[in-house]
Amino acid sequence: MAEAELSRPAGTAEDWTVPQDWAAYSPAEHAMWDRLFARQAAMLPDRVVPEFIAGLDMLRMDKPGIPDFEALSERLMKATGWQVVAVPGLVPDRVFFEHLANRRFVAGRFIRRPDQLDYLEEPDVFHDVFGHVPLLSHPVFADYMQAYGEGGLRADGLGAIDRLARLYWYTVEFGLIRQDSGLKLYGAGIVSSFGESKFALDDASPNRIGFGLERLMRTQYRIDDYQQSYFVIDSFDDLLRQTIETDFAPLYRRLEGQPDLEPETVLPEDHVYTLGTQAYARAKAPGCPLPSEELPHDDRT
Ligand SMILES: [Fe+2]
Repeated sequence: MAEAELSRPAGTAEDWTVPQDWAAYSPAEHAMWDRLFARQAAMLPDRVVPEFIAGLDMLRMDKPGIPDFEALSERLMKATGWQVVAVPGLVPDRVFFEHLANRRFVAGRFIRRPDQLDYLEEPDVFHDVFGHVPLLSHPVFADYMQAYGEGGLRADGLGAIDRLARLYWYTVEFGLIRQDSGLKLYGAGIVSSFGESKFALDDASPNRIGFGLERLMRTQYRIDDYQQSYFVIDSFDDLLRQTIETDFAPLYRRLEGQPDLEPETVLPEDHVYTLGTQAYARAKAPGCPLPSEELPHDDRT
């Protein structure tokens, strides 16, 4: 994850990376990974895109304990030429894009505490590695992530990072995909979240809308709770093709003249898979009489 204004912490390299220091993890930290892994491994099989499961297998991520980034990178490098590098936390946008454009995925190295099992403000190693890395072993998705990084560097020069960030949010983090067997999960923010991996597919509350680059880049998103709309791609090939073939500079200019859309908005021209009730979001709106402890929380990216 990236943020615009940050200063580089002491002890980080020029590119903001740090050693993972795998030997320093405690048994309790490895046990936390195992607990989160077991929970998602039981939840995901019929829900997640099969390419994600294939990535977990290929990268041997079912091995107990927090993965060692060096060993993980070795396998990933053979599959798609990607590496995983550790960073101390959020990094500036440009640094993030540079890494992606060079097929390096930046991952947090800390793991959440037991009291943060279902709610986290900053992405930890479980979100970053379990959520993001398996699909980096898929050649087309791997190319999409690189293309996104290159697009980010161009967007930076055009003052359009906020627009492009919506593409990342609604695909890489919270994307759904249509397959013959129905809608499946692939976004890292969903697949690393116990609550959202159920909510995003099963709940009546959110909209599920066909992917459209321009549509999605007009749409605001929720950073503090489950999404009110999910966007459904047809295939990773189609996502990559649209990202590579679109000339983003005129698209950004066109978008400047259009108002943003609220996260729950449905347009007449949308291809709607599910028209959401928005009951979940409404129940959590300010002034709602429900006690907060009745409402599920989950980890955010
Ligand atoms: Fe993420």
